[in-house]
Amino acid sequence: MPFKPRVFSGMQPTGNLHLGNYLGALTRWVEMQSTHECIYCIVDMHALTQGFDPDGLRQATRDVTAAYLAAGLDAKKSIIFNQSQVSAHAELGWVFNCVARLGWLDRMTQFKEKAGKDREAASVGLYAYPTLMAADILVYRATHVPVGEDQKQHLELSRDIAQKFNNDFKKEILAAGFADGIFFPQPDPVITGPATRVMSLRDGTKKMSKSDPSDLSRINLTDDADTIAKKIQKAKTDADGIPSEKKGFEGRAEAENLVGIYAALTDITVESVLKDFGGQQFSAFKKALAEVATDKLGKIGGEAQRLMADPAEIDKVLADGSARARAIAKPVMDHVKDIVGLLRS
Ligand code: TYM
Repeated sequence: MPFKPRVFSGMQPTGNLHLGNYLGALTRWVEMQSTHECIYCIVDMHALTQGFDPDGLRQATRDVTAAYLAAGLDAKKSIIFNQSQVSAHAELGWVFNCVARLGWLDRMTQFKEKAGKDREAASVGLYAYPTLMAADILVYRATHVPVGEDQKQHLELSRDIAQKFNNDFKKEILAAGFADGIFFPQPDPVITGPATRVMSLRDGTKKMSKSDPSDLSRINLTDDADTIAKKIQKAKTDADGIPSEKKGFEGRAEAENLVGIYAALTDITVESVLKDFGGQQFSAFKKALAEVATDKLGKIGGEAQRLMADPAEIDKVLADGSARARAIAKPVMDHVKDIVGLLRS
């Protein structure tokens, strides 16, 4: 049975959203609203995996919600909610902890990066993070997951978990009335556009990230025009100017990154940016880039701030989204309980 197309994606409320989150994921989310049924989550339980900060988490959850809305997500069209208000995520996450194999999780590169050298001191939650992420997606039996490049491995794991569940419980799934014996879809990653991996402004070999200690490495959605201009002006480049063809990017990660950002912000191809700016110095290009970045992000930052002035309204959006999400997740979780043998009344 083909699954009904349904989009799910989420972001962690840890610190500010940045240009990578916006170009790698959010812009695609906004587009997909007009073609798909969409569910967008603020994954607050994932944010617990790297330490507790209760007030900061509450604040960041509302901030990220405001940023979603300001960037163009429509709470009427899409379901927007925070993960912890729908308990089925945690319930399915536990079942998936028992489906996934240690060997699969041992291969996760993000755990290795985030745990660093002191693996023994990392939380169990950080290790099991990808099984909860699989539950986030599959508790809605979602078929499409728009994300940046860095989430690819986690999504492959989600597909493996879906497949193993379907195989292990084939008999029970058939008995529950699913004629083809398939309960979970294998969700497709949607990793498209010119900016699926936005790099640090200070080092073109590292991805732009909220955890980079240097604030100059990223543009936050809340940065004002002066800050954006300053960060772009200080962005690392090299002595050569803008190339005229893509092959001129060889060994020049920083140049490629800035041109990719420009293309994504203005919604044109990298080739046309090179046609317009090829042969010019970085100073002129950076001015143009600062202008388009300020124009686009300034509007989002301003709108997010306006929304944040009324936290009760944000909480209402999350309550409404959570109720709608629960209505989809609960029957799926009931089936899972029946399939694996957990009694319910
Ligand atoms: P998170 O919160 O780290 O990032 C949110 C989204 O932003 C994308 N992203 C980037 N894209 C391009 N360039 C960058 N430098 C960059 N940095 C971040 C990420 O790929 C992501 O799409 N595990 C997820 C959250 C999550 C999730 C899910 C996502 C939890 N459950 C279920 C999809 C489906 C994460 O930590 O994203």
